[in-house]
Amino acid sequence: MTQDSNIIIATRNKGKAREFAHALEFLGRAVKSLHDYPEAPDVVEDGTTFAENARKKAKEVGDALGVPVLADDSGLCVDRLDGAPGVYSARYAGEGASDQDNNEKLLWKLEELSEGEDTEQPLLSSARFVCHLAYYDPATGQFTEATGEVEGWITSEPSGCGGFGYDPLFYIPEFGKTMAELTLEEKQAISHRGRALERLKEQLRTL
Ligand code: IMP
Repeated sequence: MTQDSNIIIATRNKGKAREFAHALEFLGRAVKSLHDYPEAPDVVEDGTTFAENARKKAKEVGDALGVPVLADDSGLCVDRLDGAPGVYSARYAGEGASDQDNNEKLLWKLEELSEGEDTEQPLLSSARFVCHLAYYDPATGQFTEATGEVEGWITSEPSGCGGFGYDPLFYIPEFGKTMAELTLEEKQAISHRGRALERLKEQLRTL
């Protein structure tokens, strides 16, 4: 990668694109998402792991555009739901589901499990966000990869309007706040995506 080239993130998710642009400012290069490349293919995310999907997105988009691409596959794994929604996080409530649809389904599923239990728990289950990053260079066929996770709890009361996706339901005890109540900088410092990027950072500097 040359010093003046763009960094292309293989996503159409505006929340993710915003976080990547902020996190990669230090590189001093323009960070582009697939909104800037409408000709990029729509990748079918049919992998069974975050790593498989991230590699698939990076390779298909990188090969189609002929330039290096960074892809992220991420999601929420809820312990009381045996790791669901996992790789289905974006379409938990169905294809084309909104963040609100997905959040409502998550609460409904967890509340269903709690029915008949004596105590009303504000924290419904332990959970973690997972992010796998794959950087792919079509010139060499090489992947550079990193994973990050953050632990928290699913709360019955959504709170906050920052971030995206399941952030209003993801409570982090260390902050006493949900992910949606953190600033972009705070989220970056502790999030699954921030941690994965931190691990990839040194390698990206030398690309
Ligand atoms: P992907 O675009 O297939 O990787 O799907 C990621 C989905 O996981 C998003 O649509 C969100 O539902 C969820 N997700 C991933 N990262 C986050 C995050 O940082 N906050 C909240 N939800 C997230």
